Amino acid sequence: MVVKDALEAARVAADIIARIVRDKPTAALLVATGNTPLPAYAELARRAENGEVDFSRVLAVQLDEYVGLEEDDPRSLWRWTRRSFVDPLGVTRTLRLVDVTTFDDDIAKVGGLDLAVLGLGPNGHLGFNEPPCDEHAKTREVDLTPESLVSNARYFDLPVPTRARTAGMTTILSAREKLLIVTGAHKRRILARTLDEVSSRDVPASWLRGEDTTVVADEEARPRD
Ligand code: F6R
Repeated sequence: MVVKDALEAARVAADIIARIVRDKPTAALLVATGNTPLPAYAELARRAENGEVDFSRVLAVQLDEYVGLEEDDPRSLWRWTRRSFVDPLGVTRTLRLVDVTTFDDDIAKVGGLDLAVLGLGPNGHLGFNEPPCDEHAKTREVDLTPESLVSNARYFDLPVPTRARTAGMTTILSAREKLLIVTGAHKRRILARTLDEVSSRDVPASWLRGEDTTVVADEEARPRD
């Protein structure tokens, strides 16, 4: 779906997330950090406050985390998830990505993921599934690519950790629905590759294909003909 701007993308993304939660109040949502989904999360917080949608029984599942940080470290992605999603939406059930060996089992025990909310990395990564990454990659620890290190550095004044845990590509693809939000001209090239190239290890987001994936892009990110 192509929409006018980032604000409109937030509304459309919020509609999709709210629809899933209304249909299933205990839905398990895999939740990306990063800047892209923040306006959608803010829109959902507004709707939750107005009583339009209730997130109190939703399970928020962490998508990725740096290795070696305390939970309250300003760079901790869990802290980011709490501040932007868990607290403002009134979520009370959470599953953190602490142990890569038990994470996928923990997700299976709650009946699997209902929705994966995703942003698109500058190199096509999803979570920290860095290229090259095949579609069967499991939840694991990874070294971040130089491109991701540069990209992540803009969020913090402190040095960026070089290793991370990420939900696997299989974990992401196992979600019953996937929502990829892409805004801004700086994402246009990688979005074009994601949509137009044959799915491959070079662009991990290109594994997202099929009817269960919705891409919401704004005009700036829309690939040109
Ligand atoms: C965040 C994450 C990353 C980001 C991606 C885009 O949890 O997993 O894959 O979604 O790097 O980041 P932004 O949205 O800041 O451009």
